[in-house]
Amino acid sequence: EFHLHPRDAGLSSAGFFGKYDRRQVQRGFQVFKEVCAACHSLKYVSFRDLEEIGYSEAEVKAIANQWVIETPSVNPDTGEAATRKNVASDRFPSPFANEVAARAANNNALPPDLSLIAKARHDGANYVFSLVGKDGYRPQPAELLKKFPETKTPDGLHYNPYFANLNIAMPPPLTTDGQVTYTDGTVATHDQMAKDVAAFLTWTAEPKLEARHAAGFASVVFILIFCFLAWGAYQNVWRDVK
Ligand code: HEM
Repeated sequence: EFHLHPRDAGLSSAGFFGKYDRRQVQRGFQVFKEVCAACHSLKYVSFRDLEEIGYSEAEVKAIANQWVIETPSVNPDTGEAATRKNVASDRFPSPFANEVAARAANNNALPPDLSLIAKARHDGANYVFSLVGKDGYRPQPAELLKKFPETKTPDGLHYNPYFANLNIAMPPPLTTDGQVTYTDGTVATHDQMAKDVAAFLTWTAEPKLEARHAAGFASVVFILIFCFLAWGAYQNVWRDVK
């Protein structure tokens, strides 16, 4: 009763004929880049995949260059891992060198890779929207504390009724309207940013969604025509017997 079903983000990709809104997916990428990428990787998405959502080759290069990763080689003078800029064929890296470093920076929780999160969670696109949207993080309801005092949000965790166990380690990533300044002029309300990043993560989880919808539609049309032909053949075969 306290764990809520996600709110509907109303994304254009939902439903049988759903298609991505390229501009929205681009805005979602901007939110990911400026906010979420501080903690999360996209290990199944490479920078050059962004060309599918409308970025040019040059833009992709410039974007990839903004990410720096550690390489397996070690700088012989300092003993530290050598770094290099990312290129278009690299995947979106984790900002942390390894799991220990990631946990150390996140109160011992591990920020999961977000490539497939929209598929991994029930009603994923709406879930991401609700989790980071404007009514996700909120004070813990008094009735809950009364009924189940042991669920009191521990220090370092945050109450969020969309998260399965209600207390999540991720600090609220989106908190204020205008946190991101959209290049396409869209007003960046809290919910707008949450919807856009949900649209982006839906695309990362299923870049071929539009082809799947088109194939499904074509198959249904084919089956309908086939049914009609089969019925016609049946009529023809049995005509003299009746
Ligand atoms: C977990 C999304 C930014 C740290 C998650 C989960 C999602 C998510 C969908 C998985 C929840 C689940 O398991 O069901 C986002 C989005 C962000 C964002 C869309 C940007 C708008 C951040 C930032 C940080 C962070 C900036 C670090 C300061 C974490 C951590 C977890 C997590 C530690 C694990 C939580 C737990 O297991 O309790 N995030 N995140 N996230 N995120 Fe984020």
